[in-house]
Amino acid sequence: MKTTKGLKKLVALPLILFPLVCYAKVTGQCGNCHTMHNSQGGAAVAQNMIDGSLDLSFTPNDALLNTNCIGCHQGNNSVGGLTTPYVLQTSPPTYSNTGTEGTTTTLAGGNFYWVSSGLEATGHNVNGIAIPDTRFGNIPPGGTALGSQLTCAGVSGCHGDRTVSGEIKSMMKSHHANDMTKWKDGSTLAKSYRFLYSVQGWEDQQYEYRPASGHHNKYYGIDRTLETQNDDSTISSLCAKCHGDFHQGSGNISSGTFGAGVWLRHPTDFDMGRAASTDEYVSYNGGSGSNNVYSVISPVATASNTEIINSTVYTAADDAIVMCLSCHRAHGTPYQGLLRWDYKSWPGGGFNGCAVCHTTKD
Ligand code: HEC
Ligand code: HEC
Ligand code: HEC
Ligand code: HEC
Ligand code: HEC
Repeated sequence: MKTTKGLKKLVALPLILFPLVCYAKVTGQCGNCHTMHNSQGGAAVAQNMIDGSLDLSFTPNDALLNTNCIGCHQGNNSVGGLTTPYVLQTSPPTYSNTGTEGTTTTLAGGNFYWVSSGLEATGHNVNGIAIPDTRFGNIPPGGTALGSQLTCAGVSGCHGDRTVSGEIKSMMKSHHANDMTKWKDGSTLAKSYRFLYSVQGWEDQQYEYRPASGHHNKYYGIDRTLETQNDDSTISSLCAKCHGDFHQGSGNISSGTFGAGVWLRHPTDFDMGRAASTDEYVSYNGGSGSNNVYSVISPVATASNTEIINSTVYTAADDAIVMCLSCHRAHGTPYQGLLRWDYKSWPGGGFNGCAVCHTTKD
């Protein structure tokens, strides 16, 4: 009995201290994030988070880090607490209908909270956060099997250099070289949008915490002319690294001429500005086809690579590009299929975000 209690205390203590580690910026004290010898007073220091609990093996980490990705990026987002983007909340995030309302606490990618709670269709089943998806295993729909369960970074992950195995290894030289005030041109990992190697974009410094038309990420996209085209600097091409058939490939997207006929799969990296002036897309987000207000509910990408926020749409060429993130969030949402809104329960309940673009179908 006594021993069990003692052990519980031992486990609980680091958990309480843990958030302190994560508040500092990468510019803070080295010891907040690194441990020189993985030893303090003769005891091991490194503590990783795996499936909601502390990994008690205390083995040293790459780059002398005192914890893993999840250890630092797990916490609760709040006003003023956004020096670290928390992608796995420890208490239920406030999401509401679209994750953009005034009281919401999720970020642009949504949150892994729901998938970590066992609702497997609500998020990417990342190793250390959730068990492998029982329906898909390691096979991304529209793509080929990964070598292992999905990870945050590395060859089976989304962040970092996907040719390098090891999560931290694949992320080397990113955190200390980050500059969110600049357009990320994808030339190096640190200069890639959200450390997604090769992807371009301009990052909201609040990670889209309670976004508005003038405060949000600027996503990069291109207006393709061929369904076989794939430019790995667009945000949709990131998703295509695993779900390729949903983005590009002969006979995968359009029936007949790309953009001039009927679609086989929902278009992405395709500019709505191409539509005729009589088409419903002209009224995107309640506008009239010129300087429509940007929708944070169903955002669009742009071919512009300036450090000027795209708060309106149909203002310049190729600024109304449909992307995977027009409908999905990358980490997770409370809804099926990582969708930004509750597609399944509409009508009756749910929310019809499709109508932001398909303005006559509400
Ligand atoms: C808020 C957390 C944090 C703090 C504080 C921090 N680091 Fe790091 N550091 C990281 C992370 C995460 C990595 C590994 C991934 C990467 O390179 O982005 C890293 C990687 C490194 C690397 C290898 C990659 C590179 O960029 O050269 C060095 C060297 C390093 N840190 C030194 C330091 C020193 C020295 C300090 C104190 C002046 C410090 N760090 C403070 C988080 C931190
Ligand atoms: C020791 C703590 C620590 C660890 C470990 C750590 N991060 Fe971070 N991370 C931070 C902090 C602090 C920031 C915010 C400051 C910044 O952007 O550099 C951050 C920012 C980020 C960002 C946002 C970058 C941007 O440009 O907006 C991403 C993506 C990210 N981390 C991914 C990862 C991944 C993937 C891992 C594991 C391989 C990881 N982090 C490990 C502390 C950490
Ligand atoms: C590194 C590979 C990888 C990348 C990149 C990737 N995914 Fe996935 N995705 C997977 C795997 C594996 C699954 C199946 C297992 C699971 O659900 O986690 C999946 C499942 C999904 C599902 C179905 C979820 C469910 O449980 O029903 C959606 C939706 C999805 N991904 C969307 C996206 C979007 C949008 C992007 C880009 C932001 C993206 N994916 C990027 C690997 C990836
Ligand atoms: C127009 C909205 C929209 C866009 C854009 C979109 N999706 Fe989806 N996606 C959905 C909906 C809705 C579902 C739910 C299943 C369905 O009804 O087809 C879904 C389901 C999925 C699934 C799960 C498929 C399965 O077998 O369960 C994956 C994976 C996925 N999307 C990936 C992507 C990727 C990758 C992109 C970009 C190339 C993308 N989606 C663009 C709306 C969209
Ligand atoms: C960001 C804007 C946007 C959103 C959000 C969006 N769509 Fe679309 N959708 C388009 C565009 C643009 C086209 C192609 C129009 C064209 O070719 O003229 C399209 C095409 C389609 C088509 C094929 C029509 C054809 O001509 O073959 C269907 C069906 C469709 N969308 C359904 C949906 C559903 C269901 C949702 C919500 C889950 C949705 N869309 C959300 C912009 C959007």
